[in-house]
Amino acid sequence: MDDLVSRLRKEIRVGIDLSTEINDRDLREKIRSKVLGDQEARRLSISEQKEIIDRIYDSMRGLDILEPLLRDPTITEIMINSKDEIFIERKGSTQQIELKFEDEERLLNVIQSIVATVNRRVNESSPIVDARLKDGSRVNVVLPPIALKGPTMTIRKFPAKPVTIEDLIEWGAISQEAADFIQSLVTARYNIFISGGTGSGKTTFLNALSNFIPEDERVITIEDSAELQIKKVKNLVAMETRNSASGSEAKEISIRDLIKSSLRMRPDRIVVGEVRGAEALDMLQAMNTGHDGSLSTGHANSPQDMLSRLETMVLSGGAGLPIEVVRKQISSAIEIMVHLSRLRDKTRKVMEICEVTGYSNGEVRLKTLYSFEEEGSRKKVEGRLEKVAELKNTSKLKTYGIQLS
Ligand SMILES: Nc1ncnc2c1ncn2[C@@H]1O[C@H](COP(=O)(O)OP(=O)(O)OP(=O)(O)O)[C@@H](O)[C@H]1O
Ligand SMILES: [Mg+2]
Repeated sequence: MDDLVSRLRKEIRVGIDLSTEINDRDLREKIRSKVLGDQEARRLSISEQKEIIDRIYDSMRGLDILEPLLRDPTITEIMINSKDEIFIERKGSTQQIELKFEDEERLLNVIQSIVATVNRRVNESSPIVDARLKDGSRVNVVLPPIALKGPTMTIRKFPAKPVTIEDLIEWGAISQEAADFIQSLVTARYNIFISGGTGSGKTTFLNALSNFIPEDERVITIEDSAELQIKKVKNLVAMETRNSASGSEAKEISIRDLIKSSLRMRPDRIVVGEVRGAEALDMLQAMNTGHDGSLSTGHANSPQDMLSRLETMVLSGGAGLPIEVVRKQISSAIEIMVHLSRLRDKTRKVMEICEVTGYSNGEVRLKTLYSFEEEGSRKKVEGRLEKVAELKNTSKLKTYGIQLS
């Protein structure tokens, strides 16, 4: 079938200018009549003919062999390591698939067409680019000579329907009880920080929490690549950073710039997609200066590790603050930490919920409120998120008249 697709595509290509001359419907019609009029193709079943039409269309107009993967809602991530090495993630497990790009040029064309839609360019002198598909999926591209195997692209699919807290409960990522607890904390404007490793579900969890924000508040979201989908809040401003592509006039806009600017936009809460560097200080300051209920995430292996990484981030900004001052800032800004992990059976779970109880003897104090306790030691992870302590600082809950059940 591959040879047939390739032959028919070449025959169709002759004589049409794909960029302007023909609209999508006419192109599809042209392909259809070509396929149905072809002796070899006519012998195939109707479903095979349809597949051929789709494949030719996708390769000429869409994103080629990626189209069916993008349409498949069960696929959450597409990892293209080179033209003939493609992995996908489906229901948490990663597997290599048979699909291949016909040649490297075709893969490069797809990459260029994606990158062009966000007005960026990717080439040897600027070989790393972040982009987004029309549907919001997050894309990262790395080209040779930096990527050794060939053009590499990773697509984190944008869920058509955002993952809700109910989904997370159903998937066993959090218990109903812990979810209710967190909901109360979000409503009562506790400052919450989510930690976890790469791909552990931080953004997904942040999004689920953001949807607990009461709808009458003004919320500003700040992200490197817009992924959040907050549905209820009407008074919402979403902002995204900008990298300055080489050769372009556009000024780079960082997370730091956006946090600073957001403080002048009268937010009730600020949601920062992820902190990685010096912007940690700005985020802590925002949490400390009356933007209670702010939420953010960061990369770490445990809540304790997150605290020390936050310190390093703040210090990297070169504000020259003594370490005690940084620790005090952290302890007064963040009230709750939620830690996520991607476990050995590829499931993603809340492992710990901690309260930051203060600062003493030179250390930020953490108290574990919920902890995931594993039962048995099978390949599949089984266990429960157990409550191990009560929340100490309940003053905000009282202010908002919320009772923990
Ligand atoms: N509890 C869960 N169960 C199953 N899949 C999940 C769960 N949480 C998130 N996912 C899926 O896992 C993938 C990674 O999630 P997400 O983008 O939230 O992770 P992340 O920690 O923010 O990743 P990164 O470090 O790359 O920013 C997504 O495709 C998401 O839909
Ligand atoms: Mg993320």
